[in-house]
Amino acid sequence: MEGASDIDGVRMTWNAWPRTKVEASKCVIPIAACVYPIYPHPSIPNLAYPPLRCKTCSSILNSYSRVDFNALIWICPFCYQRNHFPHHYSGINESNLPAELHPQYTTIDFNLTPHHQQGYSPPPPIYLFVLDTCMIEEEFNFAKSAFKRAIGMLPDNAMVGFVSFGTQVQVHELGFSEMSKVYVFRGSKDLTKDQVLEQLGLGAAVGTKRHAASPLAPGINRFLLPASDCEFSLQTLLDELGTDQWPVPPGNRALRCTGVALSVAAGLLGACLAGTGARIVALVGGPCTEGSGAIVSKDLSDPVRSHKDLDKDAAPFFKKAAHFYEDLAKQLVSQGHVLDLFASALDQVGVAEMKVAIERTGGLVVLSESFGHSVFKDSFKRIFDDGAQSLGLCFNGTFEINCSKDIKIQGVIGPCTSLEKKGPSVANTVVGQGNTTAWKMCGLDKSTTLTVFFDISTSEKSDSAANTNPQLYLQFLTSYQSSDGQTRLRVTTVTRRWVDSALGTEELVQGFDQETASVVMARFASHKMELEEGFDATRWLDRNLIRLCAKFGDYRKDDPTSFTLNPCFSLFPQFMFNLRRSQFVQVFNNSPDETAYFRMSLNRESITNAAVMIQPSLISYSFNSPPVPALLDVASISADRILLLDSYFSVVIFHGMTIAQWRNLGYQNDSEHQAFAQLLQAPHDDAQVIIHERFPVPRLVVCDQHGSQARFLLAKLNPSATYNNAPEMGAGTDVIFTDDVSLQVFFEHLQRLAVQSS
Ligand SMILES: *[C@@H]1O[C@H](CO)[C@@H](O)[C@H](O)[C@H]1NC(C)=O
Ligand SMILES: *[C@@H]1O[C@H](CO)[C@@H](O)[C@H](O)[C@H]1NC(C)=O
Ligand SMILES: *[C@@H]1O[C@H](CO)[C@@H](O)[C@H](O)[C@H]1NC(C)=O
Ligand SMILES: *[C@@H]1O[C@H](CO)[C@@H](O)[C@H](O)[C@H]1NC(C)=O
Ligand SMILES: *[C@@H]1O[C@H](CO)[C@@H](O)[C@H](O)[C@H]1NC(C)=O
Ligand SMILES: [Zn+2]
Repeated sequence: MEGASDIDGVRMTWNAWPRTKVEASKCVIPIAACVYPIYPHPSIPNLAYPPLRCKTCSSILNSYSRVDFNALIWICPFCYQRNHFPHHYSGINESNLPAELHPQYTTIDFNLTPHHQQGYSPPPPIYLFVLDTCMIEEEFNFAKSAFKRAIGMLPDNAMVGFVSFGTQVQVHELGFSEMSKVYVFRGSKDLTKDQVLEQLGLGAAVGTKRHAASPLAPGINRFLLPASDCEFSLQTLLDELGTDQWPVPPGNRALRCTGVALSVAAGLLGACLAGTGARIVALVGGPCTEGSGAIVSKDLSDPVRSHKDLDKDAAPFFKKAAHFYEDLAKQLVSQGHVLDLFASALDQVGVAEMKVAIERTGGLVVLSESFGHSVFKDSFKRIFDDGAQSLGLCFNGTFEINCSKDIKIQGVIGPCTSLEKKGPSVANTVVGQGNTTAWKMCGLDKSTTLTVFFDISTSEKSDSAANTNPQLYLQFLTSYQSSDGQTRLRVTTVTRRWVDSALGTEELVQGFDQETASVVMARFASHKMELEEGFDATRWLDRNLIRLCAKFGDYRKDDPTSFTLNPCFSLFPQFMFNLRRSQFVQVFNNSPDETAYFRMSLNRESITNAAVMIQPSLISYSFNSPPVPALLDVASISADRILLLDSYFSVVIFHGMTIAQWRNLGYQNDSEHQAFAQLLQAPHDDAQVIIHERFPVPRLVVCDQHGSQARFLLAKLNPSATYNNAPEMGAGTDVIFTDDVSLQVFFEHLQRLAVQSS
């Protein structure tokens, strides 16, 4: 799969690790690993027996374990404990190795499904749809038809439930097709899970003990039905369902109780066994204005909060709503359930506030401007597809890490929640979801990525195992329920070398992964921007880049012209240049909802995809050559070229002036100009390949040079032709660049500051 370098699906900023805490901090870029916990790879063996665990540290037998075949003993590489093989391994020898010990199988899947249990069938997936009814007729019909299509695509055994909301919440009984029955909840009133269940008549059921074979409480089959049984009644219900009828006075927003609706939905799912694969799929068409989770008043003259408002602490609803969703996140995580959000509106709906509940549960999020737009329609469809393009949605994941002594785990950035499992390898400083060696992933899929931040605990002089064993080990364990209902455990064990960087940086330098480092810096900076008040991301990135260049560049002191960078670092400054200009750092160009959306994608996608978000790819099509990568610079624009820009959330096909003229004259329809027809078609075909593989489906923009849509391309290009004279900065300062300098000026300033004697 793209982005994963090998069978392990682990990419690290540094592939050789500095031995001490001090040396690590001199490396500037944090030691971090991006892990794809369950990405598919054809070479990963699938074993149908349980793994062997070390009796002391409980890490799993792996190909780095030393084995004494005569004594039938293996030595754990993490704690050096000697473990006896159990009896059924007694036939092993050097030429008859179990898969776990094969050197190429550093990643292994164990199928732990209790298939031996009589009558076992995997628990069905549960989809609880939550539909906003405060929409204009046209949008509402788009949403309803997408929803109807989805129901038709669900596997027959999938359980389906339906909640609609406007000013109030309606929980629909689907069990009776004759007379549809609805439970109504006030949008202004908070309810606990128990109150929700009580009102739905499920209160008594929750106390009774359930098990995996029948994960649903009795009585809940009034609300959650197999898709095959309720498809018809649900289609009828949707046909009859109208938009919210609550009167909206002029100058007011609709009263919309999104927060309470989601809380009622979570309460209903509380009647299902924890960890059952259940997701709330919410379609929301505007801001919450009623009850808990409200992000703005109902008065239209109060605008929805902007980044400026958040900055100035002038967003009176924000903290309260965010807090409400934090509690909802906790509830969902404890139930093991997922929140997916499909937001579609010209204004904001509150993605920024809801982010915590989506990200902590591993939910999906798609933001589009209309439920009729392909960004929504095609993305939504993708969730229910079971073909090659399916997302492979999995549930009830737990991610754990074991590591060699002297390595400490600071935390994880990505779609998960800390399980607060303390241990000797937990670091004191926390990054993201920390204080733990285990994380919950209620929802995960084949492209899910987690970024783990590490710290080194060895001090300069200490004499520890790390100083004798030149290798370090990490083991990543992901247990989860796969989309076909199986219980699986993915075990990846990796090793890297410790290097004494005080003696020379050669090995360290060779192990630097620029692309991963860029993505990790983007994730870390975004995280700090959310967490630390007044955090200046541009300045922070500049300072780190200068320090990195000063440490790893080759130069004579105070002579900028002498500066060169090893090829292992040479792409990194340009990544930082583009990161500074990206939507992740220049947040004021977007709404808080958009920023939250971009960041959630940044955090959960593969390195390759995240790198494209930071530094878009540009391909040039012309008569004279096959398609070639072009510089991300306005100089790449030319009248007789077509450019294809992939900036992840949008894909832009940009026709140079001459190309556009010929196309308008219809040359492509003329059999004499077949080459032109092909030239015109090629970027469209390539764009379709990108669109097909991606979730959320990107927006496709087709435009011409000097056309109004051309801004989608221009905004991403280096302004080499316009800004050549950035102001000179005085020596000694560490802020080097204005916001919109060209790459060349950026490099000049960088070289000058990197070689400066401190
Ligand atoms: C290893 O085990 C296999 C199967 O049990 C056996 O056929 C083979 O002779 C053994 N080889 C050695 C070197 O013991
Ligand atoms: C969910 O995962 C936990 C931890 O791995 C496990 O104990 C539990 O049985 C799982 N629940 C279901 C319903 O599979
Ligand atoms: C390995 O992981 C287990 C479970 O999280 C933990 O109890 C143990 O302390 C870890 N051992 C090491 C060496 O990290
Ligand atoms: C981590 O745990 C410590 C004490 O165990 C606690 O004081 C701290 O608030 C926790 N930090 C986070 C981010 O959870
Ligand atoms: C070229 O052909 C296409 C499809 O046959 C048609 O839609 C288009 O209008 C034609 N363009 C011109 C300028 O004739
Ligand atoms: Zn051990």
